[in-house]
Amino acid sequence: MENLKLILVIGGTGAQGRPVVKALSESGRYSVRLLTRNPASDQAKELAALPNVTLLQGSQDSQKDLHAAFTGVYGAWVNLDGFTIGEKSEIFYGIRAYEIARHHGVKHYVFANIDYALRKAGWDEQYHCGHNDAKGRVGDLILSHGQSTMKTSLLTTGPYMDMLYDGMFVPKEQADGSFVWENPASDGKIPLIALDDIGVYSLWMFDNPSESAGLDLEVATDQVSFAEIAETFTRVTGKKGVHKCVSLEEYLVKAELYPGAYSNWAVKPDVPRDESFMTWRENFSSWWRYWSEGKGATRDMAFLDRIHASRIPSLEAWMRVKSYDGRPQSVLKDLHELRKNQGP
Ligand SMILES: NC(=O)c1ccc[n+]([C@@H]2O[C@H](COP(=O)([O-])OP(=O)(O)OC[C@H]3O[C@@H](n4cnc5c(N)ncnc54)[C@H](OP(=O)(O)O)[C@@H]3O)[C@@H](O)[C@H]2O)c1
Repeated sequence: MENLKLILVIGGTGAQGRPVVKALSESGRYSVRLLTRNPASDQAKELAALPNVTLLQGSQDSQKDLHAAFTGVYGAWVNLDGFTIGEKSEIFYGIRAYEIARHHGVKHYVFANIDYALRKAGWDEQYHCGHNDAKGRVGDLILSHGQSTMKTSLLTTGPYMDMLYDGMFVPKEQADGSFVWENPASDGKIPLIALDDIGVYSLWMFDNPSESAGLDLEVATDQVSFAEIAETFTRVTGKKGVHKCVSLEEYLVKAELYPGAYSNWAVKPDVPRDESFMTWRENFSSWWRYWSEGKGATRDMAFLDRIHASRIPSLEAWMRVKSYDGRPQSVLKDLHELRKNQGP
């Protein structure tokens, strides 16, 4: 293990982090230190069984734990969880994690970013989406410090294509066998990223620091509207897919995870919050506007083809590889745990 470069992965047990841990381990060039609150979770145990992966118990919102985590590592891949720690803490710990990494002499820092919706939408407050903007602000700050001593790279994702299985993008099967996506999506293209390709992009960043240093790599598998999602579904499965556009008001009542949820919905509803916390409804109203109006459809697909030649090329290819049938499956660890705690 001595000649392997050690990478700290924060958020490694999550939907986005798991393929990263797997790709780093499989490469044979890196070892992984994975920060988790719960080393006994199924996800943590599965990853710890991979070659050259060790677990470190700790929390991303503890400076003491961050110091322990960053000590002695070559690189870091950092996905903070806004759905747990909230927008304000995500900004604070996003900055602190970066500063602590610099203190410990980390050589390459990859930040799992999302589009800074408010900035990309021209500072119009109706696009202020807390969980996007928290990461976007931190991403901008990280790149602003330049590339001497520590290389920094942003891996900027949009909504996971895999959310067609879980959470916001799951269609409802109707009695006549058709599948309906009822949501407030406009007709813009949404940059969906297949989680299966996240590991390769992350590995490419660590393997190619001369190209990835200072880079904001906006990734997507395909940029598609909701009408195209429904059409693709019909073509692939032979079942009728329909996008039914409804008003935000009509949608929010049905979609809210639980009454009065906040944007950090993964934490109990009765935990005190101050006025900086957006409600789930406010947060995801902006989220639908930003993505479905096509404001994030800015990915350079030709560049992605070059750095990952065997990437999943399209939504259609993804649906075929997955044998996607419109029925739900668990993707997000947080959502899985919320459902478990809520009971049947
Ligand atoms: N859903 C999407 O389409 C999408 C798209 C792009 C970006 N994102 C962003 O991805 C983030 C969530 O990651 P995910 O999608 O991988 O979700 P996930 O599957 O629910 O996983 C959540 C991850 O966050 C970790 N975590 C949460 N609180 C932590 C804490 N206090 N200390 C240490 N680790 C903590 C969990 O680790 P342990 O439980 O093991 O501690 C787990 O690895 C969010 O910020 C979200 O905005 C989501």
